[in-house]
Amino acid sequence: MNKKIALIYGDGIGPDIVKAAVKVLERIAEKYRHKFTFCDAPMGGNAIDEYGDPLPKKSVDVCLASDSVLLGAVGGKKWDNLSGSKRPEAGLLGIRKALKLYANIRPAKLFPQVADRSPLRKDIVENGFDMVIVRELTGGIYFGERGIRQGKLGREAYDTECYSEIEIERIARVAFEIARKRNKKITSIDKANVLESSRLWRYAIHEVAQDYPDVTVNDMFVDNAAMQLVKDPSQFDVIVTSNMFGDILSDLASALTGSIGLLPSASLNDTTLGLYEPIHGSAPDLGENVANPIATILSAAMMLRYSFDMTEEAADVEKAVDKVLCDNRTQDLWSEGKRLCSTSEITDLIIKNI
Ligand code: IPM
Ligand code: MG
Repeated sequence: MNKKIALIYGDGIGPDIVKAAVKVLERIAEKYRHKFTFCDAPMGGNAIDEYGDPLPKKSVDVCLASDSVLLGAVGGKKWDNLSGSKRPEAGLLGIRKALKLYANIRPAKLFPQVADRSPLRKDIVENGFDMVIVRELTGGIYFGERGIRQGKLGREAYDTECYSEIEIERIARVAFEIARKRNKKITSIDKANVLESSRLWRYAIHEVAQDYPDVTVNDMFVDNAAMQLVKDPSQFDVIVTSNMFGDILSDLASALTGSIGLLPSASLNDTTLGLYEPIHGSAPDLGENVANPIATILSAAMMLRYSFDMTEEAADVEKAVDKVLCDNRTQDLWSEGKRLCSTSEITDLIIKNI
């Protein structure tokens, strides 16, 4: 198959980890006789420096003309004092919106090889966990009405959480479809005891649930969910939640695995054009060739599976990662007795195992 992949290197460790994933994709292309062509789409801080815009229109066009997009991470101290719409993060939010990527899929599973790195107690980790967080990505407070105004007590700022039934129903369908292919169990996370938007969320989720009688749905308040994730993550299978709750809980879930450097994500719309990125940030202080590229490599595997329907190729990458993780670690996961690897060393080991 011929596929065109847009690359958003981003800032900080972004270029290192994207280069690593590209090498892995090239190995897959060679082994399975595919042809992948890569095309740059600058975004984030580097795009601000070069073009004065965190998301140049040309980059959006490159992404729209591709079969999928691979993204490193954006942001850094250098751009921290810019106003909201001029920050690197505005590029990320802009590309999600421009490509209508409303469904963010964030798997968080414990790799038994690195279970000793989990901050959880041993008796909790022993049960393992394997969940998929389905986060709504183009609505809610991230994109609601906002502003700064003069209030009774002086200057005040506001952001609004607003969800339409249609937005909730379409993310619900994505979650139910995923649940059907897994253990047929969904936890919908909201704050329906306080928020009107959460009450509509809950109603709409249960409307969609009627079309999936084979899937069980359980509602949970977000504060309780945070506690349950720490006390017993093994109780979760598919989680569906709003943009902001999903942002917060997916960081929490990823930390339970031992390193945020392991977790990939896919952002999808109703076409096969998806955006794939690690869930971690640009770690600008980390230095060169030391970052863990596995989250990005696994994001590339998700791209193979979700956008290109290359199930065998995706599994090949995942198996290689599993194998390499047994004895080799980047600094974030290193422990006594394991080989300490740089970004390129661990990437080469993964490639050797494909
Ligand atoms: C994420 C990140 C982004 C988000 C930031 C960088 C805008 O935290 O992808 O989880 O909040 O969505
Ligand atoms: Mg986040």
